[in-house]
Amino acid sequence: MTHEFSTVRAGAAGGGIVADPTARPEAIVADAVVIFLTEGGTGSGSAAPIDAATGGLLSRLAAAGELGGKRYECVPILAAPGLAAGQLVVVGLGKREEVDAGVLYRAAATAAKHLAGRPRSKVAFVADSSWTSRQTEQAVAGSAVGMVGQDLYRVEKRRTPFASTVWLGAAAADVARGGLIAEGVNLARRLVNTPADALYPQTFSEEAAAVAGRTGMEIEIWDEAQLARERCQAILAVGRGSSRPPRLVILRYRGPGCREGQPDLALVGKGVTFDSGGLSLKPSESMLTMKCDMSGGAAVLAAAATIAALGLPVNLVVAIGLVENMTGSAAYKLGDVITARSGTTIEIHNTDAEGRVVLADVLDVVRGFRPQRIIDAATLTGACMVALGHDVAGLFTNDQDCCDDLARASRAVGEPVWQLPMYADYDDQIRSEVADIKNVGDGRWGGAITAAKFLERFVGDIPWTHVDIAGPAFAEKPRPWIDGGGTGTLVRPLVELVRGPG
Ligand code: BES
Ligand code: MN
Ligand code: ZN
Repeated sequence: MTHEFSTVRAGAAGGGIVADPTARPEAIVADAVVIFLTEGGTGSGSAAPIDAATGGLLSRLAAAGELGGKRYECVPILAAPGLAAGQLVVVGLGKREEVDAGVLYRAAATAAKHLAGRPRSKVAFVADSSWTSRQTEQAVAGSAVGMVGQDLYRVEKRRTPFASTVWLGAAAADVARGGLIAEGVNLARRLVNTPADALYPQTFSEEAAAVAGRTGMEIEIWDEAQLARERCQAILAVGRGSSRPPRLVILRYRGPGCREGQPDLALVGKGVTFDSGGLSLKPSESMLTMKCDMSGGAAVLAAAATIAALGLPVNLVVAIGLVENMTGSAAYKLGDVITARSGTTIEIHNTDAEGRVVLADVLDVVRGFRPQRIIDAATLTGACMVALGHDVAGLFTNDQDCCDDLARASRAVGEPVWQLPMYADYDDQIRSEVADIKNVGDGRWGGAITAAKFLERFVGDIPWTHVDIAGPAFAEKPRPWIDGGGTGTLVRPLVELVRGPG
């Protein structure tokens, strides 16, 4: 591992999280105690004992209109009487019947983000006894994601992870799992937030090797020579304009009780560590955030790390195509025809449609493992953001059950997704005059779908779902529950998918 990279890693770690199932919230000695409040709910859940201990303070504030329990409203009450903690933070959940795991994740993250604005030695969160195990887990995960900021390169940090976090009224196993899920989300965020000059194909692959070592996964890293031997001409073509050569990372995980052989699931990630657009150069405003173009790769790596850390029973293969899309003198050009690993020829009409070209080879490699299903994650198209906005990922599939499973998992943890159609008529748009296919559609309409149609050509008859995360992967502005930058999107849905309905 290079020295510059070790520097980047420092400071990202959070404090320990423990459960205390029996301690009373009013008696806990801590910098702050956080409770969750539904609309009109001062007399119920974790608010009730606090209201009693403070002599009805919460009821009085609610009656005065100061405490509404509105979703993600965060009300700090300093030096509340009757409490051992230095302050009480009341975070709103909205309507009681609309509270789910996703709301709890964001609410806990909102309180944690607020409190992490200063160093804290101990923060206590109070779980509600009505929460399911999965809900508690997601709330715990939120508390550990919210306290980590976007501070990799700030001398004066804006957020300081709590030295210790304690969850009251929560089972130790739920707290432990929530902490591991947060580690995965924070890993993906850190990788996305690391600028392209520090995180390029080689250093990303070293990060993956470190993750594999930590979690006991097998790893293979293909360098240029190996990529050439494996006929990965599509990956090599996109990488040719850069002084940082491409890599392909393959990870294997076999959970307890899983037999060797065909994987249950293959996860594929777009790992374009920087997307300048290549010779079809992006304008500066669009290029500014293109360090985020490896978010799919970060998501599948972090999800695999979490799945391994949780010891889930699954036979998993992960493949990440790592390239930097640049304009160097050897850069691939418009009009070039590339023979992808599968033998399909691709005519290049736009070097900025590079993600699908890279994924063509990665999907073909993964097909060789004969997995039961393939899910790929990619910041693939601006068109998907035009269609669905910033917060919703697009789903595209050749197998409705495969897609439905992922949609369920995403919604269960509060990450919205929406499926777009894959009618055969769209195939006409990627026909080429000189090769089997071209790498863009005719004009820009339906651009997210024509990109998915291109990918479909490389998965054969294996059930497959493509997730376009161009919108949700990167938050240009901070939200109440997370600082701006990488969001760690898709890590929690993929973990949830492998676990199955709880
Ligand atoms: N990485 C971009 C897509 C993207 C855009 C991700 C905005 C995140 C935010 C992708 O490689 C790209 O440039 N796609 C082009 C395709 C076009 C040239 C057919 C696009 O969407 O404009
Ligand atoms: Mn591009
Ligand atoms: Zn791209």
